[in-house]
Amino acid sequence: MKLRRVDMVVLGIETSCDESAAAVVRGGTEVLSSVVFSQVALHQPYGGVVPEIASRSHVEKISGVIRDAMTGAFAPSGATDAAFDPAWWDGVDAVAVTYGPGLASSLIVGLSAAKGLALRLKKPLIGINHIEAHIHSVFLSPGAPPPSEAFPLMALVVSGGHTCWIEMPRPGVYRLTGQTLDDAAGEAFDKAAKLLGLGYPGGPAIDRAAAAAKSFDVAAFPKGAPRRGNPALGALRAEMCVSFSGLKTALMYRLREAPPENEEHIAGIAAAYQEAIVAALAERSERALRDGCYRALAVGGGVSLNRRLRERLRQVADEAGVRLLLAEPRFCGDNAAMIAGLAGFGGGVRGSAALGLDVAPALETGW
Ligand code: KG4
Ligand code: ZN
Repeated sequence: MKLRRVDMVVLGIETSCDESAAAVVRGGTEVLSSVVFSQVALHQPYGGVVPEIASRSHVEKISGVIRDAMTGAFAPSGATDAAFDPAWWDGVDAVAVTYGPGLASSLIVGLSAAKGLALRLKKPLIGINHIEAHIHSVFLSPGAPPPSEAFPLMALVVSGGHTCWIEMPRPGVYRLTGQTLDDAAGEAFDKAAKLLGLGYPGGPAIDRAAAAAKSFDVAAFPKGAPRRGNPALGALRAEMCVSFSGLKTALMYRLREAPPENEEHIAGIAAAYQEAIVAALAERSERALRDGCYRALAVGGGVSLNRRLRERLRQVADEAGVRLLLAEPRFCGDNAAMIAGLAGFGGGVRGSAALGLDVAPALETGW
């Protein structure tokens, strides 16, 4: 990985799933602007992301979102309604964009926009891996340590599409040590909320319902341990991986056998279900930290907003004697500041190879 230029200003673009986002970041960590248009309301009636709707919405929104990010970063005294000044482009050194993993029909919108801009402006294009960017999101907060003080680190990325543990001995080096073999943690939250009638997206709804529970049965749900010999493990160790699909099935049977009679029952079930996911994530994180010598546990992705998970990971990090690095709430979910940040820090596909990139929906990290 090339060393970053400390003052490099990058315009980042992110459209891997259902957020159209753009941001301007200086030197890898200083966020000058970050704009996110969330499509949640568009997908709500369907209880999940509909790729066709997502793609169409990205096409409609991405130019305006980029324009707003540029205005936020370069308008004099931060006036948000300032007329766009083409001279602002002179302040941008490179254009960075997510090229995978994600939904192909969503990724293609951001990648095409970024290629077009880079060619038109004669600026370098940098292709970014979305998962690697989620890890970088922990360095975007003013209170975060400089990245140079955080390595070697263990990272946990938990979102609606991903749940994985990645070891980073130093910047730019990624080694996958564990992952979910089926559903991502966020997906498990979303499916449970649907079954419990709590709405979409499910994570925040379960988090809220669980907080209101007076008591719950800790042993009500399986703790996400995958079966040994599961072919999806590949070269990974079973004790470092999780499986959440059984959890959702257990909930389905439980609701069928004993339908909840009131809100208190629902809260109790939500709390037990949340605890099972959190316990699985905390236990694997504990093991991952025990197996190596790390200075930090870095946690990114939408599920890292979960209050109980934050609390448990704090204990895990304290007991292991490592620093817990959590992204600021606005950088937990999908955003473009993490894309521009990682690019400004020296990551991603650079040079002429970047212009030749195609979308990579199943892009892997650290194999
Ligand atoms: O990172 P993100 O915004 O998008 C993806 O890349 O998937 O994550 C979205 C996921 C959703 O599944 C949502 O339910 C979950 O993050 N989530 C939460 C919470 N807030 C969002 N899960 C648990 N507790 C929360 N408070
Ligand atoms: Zn994400």
